[in-house]
Amino acid sequence: MADLHATERLVPDDTGIARAAEVLLAGGLVSFPTETVYGLGGVATDDIAVARIFEAKGRPHFNPLIAHVPDLEAVSKIAELSERAHDLAQAFWPGPLTLVLPMRADAGLSPLVSAGLTTVAVRVPDHPLAQKLLRAVGRPVVAPSANPSGRISPTEAAHVLAGLGGRIEAVLDGGPCSVGVESTIVGFNPEPVLLRPGGLPAEAIEDALGAPLARRAEGAGINAPGQLASHYAPDARVRLDAEAARPGERMLGFGDADGEMNLSPSGDLVEAAANLFRMLHALDAAGDAPIAVAPVPDTGLGRAINDRLRRAAAPRD
Ligand code: TXA
Ligand code: MG
Repeated sequence: MADLHATERLVPDDTGIARAAEVLLAGGLVSFPTETVYGLGGVATDDIAVARIFEAKGRPHFNPLIAHVPDLEAVSKIAELSERAHDLAQAFWPGPLTLVLPMRADAGLSPLVSAGLTTVAVRVPDHPLAQKLLRAVGRPVVAPSANPSGRISPTEAAHVLAGLGGRIEAVLDGGPCSVGVESTIVGFNPEPVLLRPGGLPAEAIEDALGAPLARRAEGAGINAPGQLASHYAPDARVRLDAEAARPGERMLGFGDADGEMNLSPSGDLVEAAANLFRMLHALDAAGDAPIAVAPVPDTGLGRAINDRLRRAAAPRD
């Protein structure tokens, strides 16, 4: 599905929803309306589909994505809900609230969804089309806002087509979004923390909790994608742009520069992105020896891959 010419515009009837689900389950990207903004959907268990989301948006970083599911039962299959998280879920789902929760070990999501972290952001959207689509797909669907990186979030199908037309398989046209700003994101520390203000007022959450919400520290901006301090980093040392492993190193290859593992033997950047976190985790789990990483071209998704690798290689305490 790499070379696209036209993006299908699907009408919001049963046929359109069935088509959207079919395209998603085949690994395609479908933009769909939620009550906040249009999301750029891909099946969360499909490594390549998730990698393609970053490619379609031209995102220079792998910031973690929100998994969308239709109900609490589907949430419980991918994440652990503490009592307080459960209270917020009962009060505000379906709705414009995203909760960052410990991921279940058997969640089965692509590691790119959480950028290698052990938490996952989950949301149950309150839009009839999103609800129907998620039920038809039967799997979690990740969906960042359906705009090119750095551009304004789309609240109409026409905005999606203007920004991503020709880069995604389809858009399900459900008219304008009612809320118009992204969901409010709450994490747990374990006390609830406001990670991103959004469509659900913080005051409403505080009323439900009966206590003030902790705020994210000033300057720790969730608005700067990929700048999260909590990004996964391997324990092993990482050396970049390695043509070959030195004695005592393990090699993470790319293309012809082969190694113990290879991000993409054919040199495909979407495949390399899909494999990145899985392979870093696997090498990290297998030992302490430094990891030498073959050069990855700094174009398209390669920019996000290199950004992540530079963070993994940066000196830390
Ligand atoms: O309203 C919305 O939330 C829309 C619609 C489509 O649902 N989606 C959306 O997704 O705004 P996105 O990808 O633009 O924003 C996701 C935010 C990012 O800022 C990301 O850093 C944060 O959620 N996030 C995701 N997973 C996280 C995690 N495990 N820990 C901390 N932050 C996380
Ligand atoms: Mg966004």
